[in-house]
Amino acid sequence: MSTEPVTLAIETSCDETAAAVVVERTALSNVVASQAEIHTPYGGVVPEVAARHHLGTVNAVVDQAITDAGMTWDDITQIAVTRRPGLIGALLVGVATAKAIAYARHLPLLMVDHLHGHIAASWLQPLALDPPFVSLVASGGHTRLDLVRDLRRPELLGQTRDDAAGEAVDKGARLLGLGYPGGPALERLASTGDPTAFSFPIGLSGAHQRDFSFAGVKTALLYRVRDLGDTAVEAARADLAASYQDAIMRPLADRLVQAARDSGVATVAVGGGVAANGRLRELVTARAEKYGVRAVFPDRSLCTDNAAMIGAAAAFTTPHAWPDYLAEDAIATVAPGGIAA
Ligand code: KG4
Ligand code: ZN
Repeated sequence: MSTEPVTLAIETSCDETAAAVVVERTALSNVVASQAEIHTPYGGVVPEVAARHHLGTVNAVVDQAITDAGMTWDDITQIAVTRRPGLIGALLVGVATAKAIAYARHLPLLMVDHLHGHIAASWLQPLALDPPFVSLVASGGHTRLDLVRDLRRPELLGQTRDDAAGEAVDKGARLLGLGYPGGPALERLASTGDPTAFSFPIGLSGAHQRDFSFAGVKTALLYRVRDLGDTAVEAARADLAASYQDAIMRPLADRLVQAARDSGVATVAVGGGVAANGRLRELVTARAEKYGVRAVFPDRSLCTDNAAMIGAAAAFTTPHAWPDYLAEDAIATVAPGGIAA
Protein backbone atom coordinates (compact mmCIF):
# COMPACT_ATOMS: atom_id res chain seq x y z
CA MET A 1 0.00 0.00 0.00
CA SER A 2 1.24 3.48 -0.93
CA THR A 3 2.49 5.71 1.85
CA GLU A 4 1.93 8.86 -0.23
CA PRO A 5 -0.42 11.36 1.39
CA VAL A 6 -3.99 11.27 0.14
CA THR A 7 -5.07 14.90 0.16
CA LEU A 8 -8.63 16.13 0.31
CA ALA A 9 -8.43 19.73 -0.94
CA ILE A 10 -11.13 22.38 -0.53
CA GLU A 11 -11.37 25.74 -2.35
CA THR A 12 -14.00 28.43 -1.65
CA SER A 13 -12.14 31.72 -2.15
CA CYS A 14 -14.51 33.29 -4.68
CA ASP A 15 -17.57 31.91 -6.47
CA GLU A 16 -16.68 28.26 -7.06
CA THR A 17 -17.23 25.66 -4.35
CA ALA A 18 -14.60 23.06 -5.13
CA ALA A 19 -13.13 19.87 -3.68
CA ALA A 20 -10.63 17.35 -5.04
CA VAL A 21 -8.70 14.28 -3.98
CA VAL A 22 -5.04 14.45 -4.99
CA VAL A 23 -2.47 11.66 -4.64
CA GLU A 24 1.11 12.41 -5.66
CA ARG A 25 0.72 14.32 -8.93
CA THR A 26 -2.69 13.01 -9.87
CA ALA A 27 -6.09 14.54 -9.21
CA LEU A 28 -8.29 11.50 -8.68
CA SER A 29 -11.31 13.80 -8.60
CA ASN A 30 -11.92 17.50 -9.22
CA VAL A 31 -15.43 18.70 -8.41
CA VAL A 32 -16.42 22.32 -9.04
CA ALA A 33 -19.86 23.74 -8.26
CA SER A 34 -19.97 27.13 -9.93
CA GLN A 35 -22.14 29.92 -8.56
CA ALA A 36 -21.74 31.98 -11.73
CA GLU A 37 -25.45 31.85 -12.59
CA ILE A 38 -26.40 32.99 -9.12
CA HIS A 39 -24.28 36.13 -9.49
CA THR A 40 -25.18 36.85 -13.13
CA PRO A 41 -28.14 39.14 -12.32
CA TYR A 42 -25.83 41.35 -10.23
CA GLY A 43 -23.13 41.61 -12.93
CA GLY A 44 -20.45 40.34 -10.55
CA VAL A 45 -19.82 38.26 -7.44
CA VAL A 46 -21.77 39.42 -4.37
CA PRO A 47 -19.55 38.41 -1.42
CA GLU A 48 -22.33 37.74 1.09
CA VAL A 49 -24.30 35.67 -1.42
CA ALA A 50 -21.15 33.71 -2.32
CA ALA A 51 -20.45 32.82 1.31
CA ARG A 52 -24.00 31.62 1.91
CA HIS A 53 -23.94 29.44 -1.18
CA HIS A 54 -20.60 27.89 -0.24
CA LEU A 55 -22.13 27.00 3.12
CA GLY A 56 -25.05 25.24 1.49
CA THR A 57 -22.92 23.39 -1.07
CA VAL A 58 -19.55 22.54 0.45
CA ASN A 59 -20.49 19.28 2.22
CA ALA A 60 -22.06 17.78 -0.91
CA VAL A 61 -19.10 18.85 -3.05
CA VAL A 62 -16.64 17.26 -0.61
CA ASP A 63 -18.67 14.01 -0.54
CA GLN A 64 -18.75 13.99 -4.33
CA ALA A 65 -14.98 14.46 -4.56
CA ILE A 66 -14.39 11.45 -2.29
CA THR A 67 -16.92 9.32 -4.22
CA ASP A 68 -15.50 10.33 -7.63
CA ALA A 69 -12.02 9.35 -6.44
CA GLY A 70 -13.37 5.88 -5.58
CA MET A 71 -12.41 6.43 -1.96
CA THR A 72 -13.92 6.54 1.50
CA TRP A 73 -13.26 8.96 4.35
CA ASP A 74 -10.79 6.47 5.85
CA ASP A 75 -8.52 6.79 2.82
CA ILE A 76 -7.95 10.54 3.34
CA THR A 77 -4.70 11.27 5.20
CA GLN A 78 -4.56 15.08 5.11
CA ILE A 79 -6.79 18.09 4.45
CA ALA A 80 -5.74 21.11 2.38
CA VAL A 81 -7.69 24.33 2.11
CA THR A 82 -7.36 27.76 0.51
CA ARG A 83 -6.56 30.19 3.28
CA ARG A 84 -5.87 33.37 1.25
CA PRO A 85 -6.36 35.60 -0.69
CA GLY A 86 -10.06 35.95 -1.50
CA LEU A 87 -13.45 37.06 -0.23
CA ILE A 88 -13.25 36.69 3.52
CA GLY A 89 -16.73 35.25 4.06
CA ALA A 90 -16.21 32.77 1.22
CA LEU A 91 -12.78 31.72 2.49
CA LEU A 92 -14.11 31.27 6.02
CA VAL A 93 -16.56 28.59 4.87
CA GLY A 94 -13.77 26.48 3.37
CA VAL A 95 -11.39 27.02 6.25
CA ALA A 96 -14.02 26.21 8.91
CA THR A 97 -15.06 23.10 6.96
CA ALA A 98 -11.47 21.92 6.54
CA LYS A 99 -10.59 22.56 10.18
CA ALA A 100 -13.67 20.68 11.37
CA ILE A 101 -12.95 17.66 9.16
CA ALA A 102 -9.25 17.59 10.02
CA TYR A 103 -9.87 17.98 13.73
CA ALA A 104 -12.61 15.35 13.89
CA ARG A 105 -10.53 12.84 11.91
CA HIS A 106 -7.19 13.60 13.64
CA LEU A 107 -5.57 14.69 10.37
CA PRO A 108 -2.96 17.35 9.54
CA LEU A 109 -4.17 20.55 7.88
CA LEU A 110 -2.41 22.47 5.08
CA MET A 111 -3.34 26.11 4.68
CA VAL A 112 -2.70 26.87 1.02
CA ASP A 113 -2.25 30.17 -0.79
CA HIS A 114 -4.70 30.36 -3.71
CA LEU A 115 -2.05 31.93 -5.98
CA HIS A 116 0.34 29.13 -5.10
CA GLY A 117 -2.42 26.81 -6.32
CA HIS A 118 -2.66 28.54 -9.71
CA ILE A 119 1.14 28.31 -10.06
CA ALA A 120 1.24 24.63 -9.01
CA ALA A 121 -1.57 23.50 -11.35
CA SER A 122 0.87 22.54 -14.14
CA TRP A 123 2.85 20.37 -11.72
CA LEU A 124 -0.07 17.92 -11.86
CA GLN A 125 -0.40 15.14 -14.43
CA PRO A 126 -0.60 15.06 -17.37
CA LEU A 127 1.72 18.09 -17.74
CA ALA A 128 3.77 17.12 -14.68
CA LEU A 129 5.91 20.24 -15.09
CA ASP A 130 8.98 20.50 -12.87
CA PRO A 131 10.88 23.73 -12.14
CA PRO A 132 12.50 25.81 -13.37
CA PHE A 133 9.81 27.71 -15.25
CA VAL A 134 8.28 31.16 -15.38
CA SER A 135 4.63 31.25 -14.38
CA LEU A 136 1.94 33.67 -15.46
CA VAL A 137 -1.12 33.75 -13.22
CA ALA A 138 -3.91 35.86 -14.68
CA SER A 139 -7.25 35.71 -12.91
CA GLY A 140 -10.15 37.87 -11.82
CA GLY A 141 -8.25 39.24 -8.86
CA HIS A 142 -4.56 38.86 -9.74
CA THR A 143 -2.02 39.15 -12.52
CA ARG A 144 1.56 38.17 -11.77
CA LEU A 145 4.73 36.66 -13.12
CA ASP A 146 6.81 34.36 -10.91
CA LEU A 147 10.15 32.71 -11.45
CA VAL A 148 9.68 29.19 -10.12
CA ARG A 149 13.00 27.58 -9.29
CA ASP A 150 11.50 25.85 -6.27
CA LEU A 151 7.77 25.23 -5.99
CA ARG A 152 7.98 26.00 -2.28
CA ARG A 153 9.13 29.53 -3.00
CA PRO A 154 7.90 31.13 -6.22
CA GLU A 155 9.78 34.41 -6.71
CA LEU A 156 7.60 37.35 -7.74
CA LEU A 157 8.93 39.03 -10.90
CA GLY A 158 6.12 41.45 -11.66
CA GLN A 159 2.44 42.11 -11.16
CA THR A 160 -0.39 44.40 -12.13
CA ARG A 161 -0.24 47.94 -10.83
CA ASP A 162 -3.99 48.42 -11.04
CA ASP A 163 -6.67 46.07 -12.39
CA ALA A 164 -6.20 42.34 -12.84
CA ALA A 165 -6.39 41.02 -16.40
CA GLY A 166 -9.62 39.15 -15.62
CA GLU A 167 -11.14 42.29 -14.16
CA ALA A 168 -10.36 44.13 -17.42
CA VAL A 169 -11.85 41.23 -19.38
CA ASP A 170 -15.02 41.24 -17.30
CA LYS A 171 -15.45 45.02 -17.41
CA GLY A 172 -14.85 45.11 -21.16
CA ALA A 173 -17.36 42.33 -21.68
CA ARG A 174 -19.87 44.33 -19.69
CA LEU A 175 -19.29 47.46 -21.77
CA LEU A 176 -19.96 45.37 -24.88
CA GLY A 177 -23.24 44.15 -23.43
CA LEU A 178 -22.05 40.64 -22.60
CA GLY A 179 -23.11 39.14 -19.29
CA TYR A 180 -21.15 38.02 -16.28
CA PRO A 181 -18.80 36.18 -16.21
CA GLY A 182 -17.38 37.99 -19.20
CA GLY A 183 -14.29 35.95 -20.17
CA PRO A 184 -15.81 33.10 -22.17
CA ALA A 185 -18.42 35.41 -23.77
CA LEU A 186 -15.77 37.96 -24.80
CA GLU A 187 -13.62 35.18 -26.25
CA ARG A 188 -16.57 33.83 -28.28
CA LEU A 189 -17.45 37.24 -29.68
CA ALA A 190 -13.78 38.09 -30.34
CA SER A 191 -13.27 34.89 -32.33
CA THR A 192 -15.40 36.35 -35.14
CA GLY A 193 -13.72 39.77 -35.08
CA ASP A 194 -10.56 41.40 -36.41
CA PRO A 195 -8.01 42.07 -33.65
CA THR A 196 -6.36 44.82 -35.73
CA ALA A 197 -9.59 46.74 -36.42
CA PHE A 198 -9.19 49.10 -33.45
CA SER A 199 -6.10 50.28 -31.68
CA PHE A 200 -6.11 50.14 -27.88
CA PRO A 201 -3.25 51.25 -25.62
CA ILE A 202 -0.99 48.61 -24.06
CA GLY A 203 -0.37 49.45 -20.42
CA LEU A 204 3.30 50.07 -19.42
CA SER A 205 4.67 49.28 -22.85
CA GLY A 206 8.26 48.11 -23.27
CA ALA A 207 9.74 44.73 -24.06
CA HIS A 208 11.40 44.22 -20.68
CA GLN A 209 8.52 45.48 -18.62
CA ARG A 210 7.56 42.97 -15.91
CA ASP A 211 4.58 44.78 -14.41
CA PHE A 212 1.17 45.18 -16.00
CA SER A 213 -1.49 47.87 -16.14
CA PHE A 214 -5.00 47.33 -17.46
CA ALA A 215 -6.84 50.40 -16.21
CA GLY A 216 -5.98 52.43 -19.32
CA VAL A 217 -7.24 49.93 -21.87
CA LYS A 218 -10.49 49.59 -19.98
CA THR A 219 -11.02 53.34 -19.99
CA ALA A 220 -10.07 53.47 -23.69
CA LEU A 221 -12.83 50.97 -24.48
CA LEU A 222 -15.31 52.98 -22.43
CA TYR A 223 -14.52 56.13 -24.45
CA ARG A 224 -14.48 54.24 -27.75
CA VAL A 225 -17.92 52.77 -27.09
CA ARG A 226 -19.27 56.16 -26.05
CA ASP A 227 -17.77 57.97 -29.06
CA LEU A 228 -18.97 55.41 -31.60
CA GLY A 229 -22.56 55.42 -30.38
CA ASP A 230 -24.95 52.48 -30.12
CA THR A 231 -25.46 51.75 -33.82
CA ALA A 232 -21.78 51.78 -34.74
CA VAL A 233 -20.88 49.76 -31.64
CA GLU A 234 -23.48 47.17 -32.56
CA ALA A 235 -21.96 46.83 -36.05
CA ALA A 236 -18.40 46.63 -34.72
CA ARG A 237 -18.90 44.55 -31.58
CA ALA A 238 -16.84 41.55 -32.72
CA ASP A 239 -13.98 43.77 -33.93
CA LEU A 240 -14.06 45.77 -30.69
CA ALA A 241 -14.01 42.54 -28.66
CA ALA A 242 -11.11 41.08 -30.67
CA SER A 243 -9.04 44.28 -30.53
CA TYR A 244 -9.71 44.81 -26.83
CA GLN A 245 -8.95 41.18 -26.02
CA ASP A 246 -5.62 41.43 -27.84
CA ALA A 247 -4.64 44.57 -25.91
CA ILE A 248 -5.01 42.51 -22.72
CA MET A 249 -3.51 39.23 -23.95
CA ARG A 250 -0.50 40.58 -25.86
CA PRO A 251 1.37 42.08 -22.91
CA LEU A 252 0.63 38.93 -20.90
CA ALA A 253 2.12 36.70 -23.61
CA ASP A 254 5.06 38.97 -24.47
CA ARG A 255 6.17 39.65 -20.90
CA LEU A 256 5.82 36.01 -19.88
CA VAL A 257 8.16 34.82 -22.64
CA GLN A 258 10.52 37.77 -22.15
CA ALA A 259 10.77 37.04 -18.42
CA ALA A 260 11.80 33.45 -19.22
CA ARG A 261 14.47 34.66 -21.62
CA ASP A 262 15.77 37.21 -19.10
CA SER A 263 15.82 34.58 -16.35
CA GLY A 264 17.54 31.99 -18.52
CA VAL A 265 14.64 29.59 -18.10
CA ALA A 266 13.48 27.35 -20.96
CA THR A 267 9.81 26.87 -20.02
CA VAL A 268 6.76 29.04 -19.36
CA ALA A 269 3.42 28.00 -17.88
CA VAL A 270 0.11 29.78 -17.51
CA GLY A 271 -2.56 29.60 -14.82
CA GLY A 272 -5.66 31.41 -13.58
CA GLY A 273 -9.03 31.87 -15.24
CA VAL A 274 -7.72 34.13 -18.02
CA ALA A 275 -5.30 31.34 -19.02
CA ALA A 276 -8.38 29.47 -20.27
CA ASN A 277 -8.45 32.04 -23.10
CA GLY A 278 -7.65 30.54 -26.49
CA ARG A 279 -6.23 33.77 -27.91
CA LEU A 280 -3.80 34.08 -24.98
CA ARG A 281 -2.70 30.49 -25.62
CA GLU A 282 -2.19 31.28 -29.30
CA LEU A 283 -0.14 34.40 -28.55
CA VAL A 284 2.00 32.65 -25.93
CA THR A 285 2.61 29.72 -28.29
CA ALA A 286 3.66 32.02 -31.14
CA ARG A 287 5.94 34.14 -28.97
CA ALA A 288 7.48 31.11 -27.28
CA GLU A 289 8.15 29.40 -30.62
CA LYS A 290 9.83 32.53 -31.92
CA TYR A 291 12.36 32.47 -29.08
CA GLY A 292 12.72 28.71 -28.64
CA VAL A 293 10.91 28.66 -25.30
CA ARG A 294 8.63 25.76 -24.37
CA ALA A 295 5.09 26.81 -23.38
CA VAL A 296 2.82 24.54 -21.38
CA PHE A 297 -0.89 25.01 -20.81
CA PRO A 298 -2.82 23.20 -18.11
CA ASP A 299 -6.25 21.94 -19.08
CA ARG A 300 -8.80 24.75 -18.81
CA SER A 301 -10.44 22.98 -15.84
CA LEU A 302 -7.15 23.43 -13.94
CA CYS A 303 -6.88 27.13 -14.91
CA THR A 304 -10.20 28.42 -13.62
CA ASP A 305 -10.69 28.07 -9.86
CA ASN A 306 -10.59 24.45 -8.70
CA ALA A 307 -9.41 22.40 -5.73
CA ALA A 308 -7.03 20.04 -7.56
CA MET A 309 -4.57 22.94 -7.81
CA ILE A 310 -4.89 23.48 -4.05
CA GLY A 311 -4.04 19.80 -3.54
CA ALA A 312 -1.01 20.32 -5.80
CA ALA A 313 0.26 23.38 -3.89
CA ALA A 314 -0.29 21.44 -0.65
CA ALA A 315 2.66 19.24 -1.63
CA PHE A 316 4.80 22.38 -1.26
CA THR A 317 3.14 23.79 1.87
CA THR A 318 4.21 23.11 5.48
CA PRO A 319 1.51 21.11 7.27
CA HIS A 320 0.03 21.99 10.65
CA ALA A 321 -0.05 18.85 12.80
CA TRP A 322 -3.28 17.85 14.54
CA PRO A 323 -4.61 19.82 16.42
CA ASP A 324 -2.27 22.81 16.11
CA TYR A 325 -4.42 24.64 13.60
CA LEU A 326 -7.52 25.49 15.57
CA ALA A 327 -6.47 29.14 15.90
CA GLU A 328 -5.47 29.42 12.20
CA ASP A 329 -7.77 31.64 10.17
CA ALA A 330 -8.70 32.76 6.69
CA ILE A 331 -7.02 35.94 5.43
CA ALA A 332 -8.47 38.16 2.68
CA THR A 333 -5.24 39.80 1.50
CA VAL A 334 -2.33 38.68 -0.67
CA ALA A 335 0.58 37.46 1.45
CA PRO A 336 3.28 40.12 1.89
CA GLY A 337 6.15 39.18 -0.41
CA GLY A 338 4.01 36.93 -2.58
CA ILE A 339 3.20 33.37 -1.57
CA ALA A 340 2.86 32.10 1.99
CA ALA A 341 3.80 28.42 1.96
O1 KG4 B 1 -8.91 32.12 -11.58
P1 KG4 B 1 -10.36 32.47 -11.69
O2 KG4 B 1 -11.34 31.38 -12.02
O3 KG4 B 1 -10.86 33.17 -10.37
C1 KG4 B 1 -10.08 34.07 -9.65
O4 KG4 B 1 -9.19 33.61 -8.86
O5 KG4 B 1 -10.27 35.29 -9.89
O6 KG4 B 1 -10.45 33.65 -12.79
C2 KG4 B 1 -11.67 34.24 -13.13
C3 KG4 B 1 -11.42 35.21 -14.26
C4 KG4 B 1 -12.64 36.04 -14.65
O7 KG4 B 1 -12.26 37.38 -14.78
C5 KG4 B 1 -13.06 35.44 -15.99
O8 KG4 B 1 -13.73 36.34 -16.83
C6 KG4 B 1 -11.73 35.03 -16.55
O9 KG4 B 1 -11.03 34.50 -15.44
N1 KG4 B 1 -11.88 34.02 -17.61
C7 KG4 B 1 -11.54 34.24 -18.90
C8 KG4 B 1 -11.92 33.08 -19.61
N2 KG4 B 1 -12.47 32.19 -18.73
C9 KG4 B 1 -12.43 32.80 -17.50
N3 KG4 B 1 -10.98 35.31 -19.50
C10 KG4 B 1 -10.76 35.24 -20.82
N4 KG4 B 1 -11.12 34.17 -21.58
C11 KG4 B 1 -11.68 33.07 -21.02
N5 KG4 B 1 -12.01 32.03 -21.78
ZN1 ZN C 1 -8.20 31.96 -8.94
